[in-house]
Amino acid sequence: MTDALRVGVFFGSRSVEHEVSVITAQQAMAALPADRFVPVPVYIAKSGAWYTGDQLLQLDRYRDIDRLIAASTRVTMRPDPTSGGELIEVDGRRGLLGGSARAADRFDVAMPLVHGSNGEDGTLQGLFELAGLPYCGCDVASAAVSMDKRLSRTTLRGAGIPVLDDVMVSRARWQGEPDAVCADLARRPGCPMYVKPRRLGSSIGVARVETDEALRTALEVAFGYDTSILAEAAQDGGIEINCSVLGSGDDVQASVCEQPVSSGTLSYADKYLSGAKGKGGFKEPAAGMKSSQRIIPAPISDALTTRIQETAMASFRAIGAAGVTRVDFLVSPDRDSFVVNELNTLPGSLSFYLWEPSGVHFDALLTRLIDMAIARHREQQATTSSIDTWLLTGRPG
Ligand SMILES: Nc1ncnc2c1ncn2[C@@H]1O[C@H](COP(=O)(O)OP(=O)(O)O)[C@@H](O)[C@H]1O
Ligand SMILES: [Mg+2]
Repeated sequence: MTDALRVGVFFGSRSVEHEVSVITAQQAMAALPADRFVPVPVYIAKSGAWYTGDQLLQLDRYRDIDRLIAASTRVTMRPDPTSGGELIEVDGRRGLLGGSARAADRFDVAMPLVHGSNGEDGTLQGLFELAGLPYCGCDVASAAVSMDKRLSRTTLRGAGIPVLDDVMVSRARWQGEPDAVCADLARRPGCPMYVKPRRLGSSIGVARVETDEALRTALEVAFGYDTSILAEAAQDGGIEINCSVLGSGDDVQASVCEQPVSSGTLSYADKYLSGAKGKGGFKEPAAGMKSSQRIIPAPISDALTTRIQETAMASFRAIGAAGVTRVDFLVSPDRDSFVVNELNTLPGSLSFYLWEPSGVHFDALLTRLIDMAIARHREQQATTSSIDTWLLTGRPG
């Protein structure tokens, strides 16, 4: 086991999708092939503090976070290329323990599994870039663009991929002239519309607005979660279809499609809490996205499936994504046309429930993500990032 790779699995974080991330990470750490990899959990608490330790591998310990944290080791990482993947022990109040830094653990490759802000949005990826460490999934730019519904739609539109038109409003304008904002949105896109935070996920802060009177409340809620929001026309009477894409560059493949099932807007509860009842009548959270109400493969024609898979791969390439992404579509009532609603570059449960029926088992999916991370890192190391100049030293001689 000495040459097993240590995989630093980062999850939790300052994100409204914190709990979902804990579930995704537990599923992934349990499925990592033990003959090749050792999971090194790095739990990022809601405060932003990092913790490691074996107890973080047990989902039931998360019922009492304070106790779990107290039993774990608080760590941090140097952001420079000397870090070597070391997780350095820190004292919450005094910073680094003692005079010299003590490594509590270390990892060879990072697997960021944070959904949403402070993780899926390019921030963690930026840290691994600075530290010169290999990491799974999207790079900084593709993660950041995908997290931002406005920027991702602009990019997709530029690649000729169908997306909805939206109206963006900043919090500053909303605070300055709320009546004018409501009047503008009532005109365009008009009701019924969807109001959503610009950079969030899991349906948090998303509202369907039927009447002008309900608009104000929807905006107040959405602005609580982001500094800008999008409003767009409701696409009614159709269905939602999701398709996952795996790979990088031109080497990509699409999964089978799923139809998530819900009454109206797919909510946080639809997505994560609809699984079987666990012991004592609790909903069993461990099921995560796997437990949602969904039809796999989606009951749509082969021709539509193929068009959606091709568009999902084209979207993945347009954004420059890598790893595993889920592309979500809104399909018209006649099932003839569709738009890409959004890309999730860190989909719930890493979309493994779409890959299993596509012939890629979860352990193979994880292995692929890690192999791609290492290949990209090698590629980067073979790329020049500094040049010798005489600019500061003066020309010799
Ligand atoms: N324009 C729209 N028309 C119809 N339904 C929508 C529209 N926008 C969002 N929804 C519904 O709301 C859900 C959440 O919106 P989405 O844009 O996917 O945000 P999130 O990033 O939070 O998942 C979608 O899955 C869908 O059920
Ligand atoms: Mg969504």
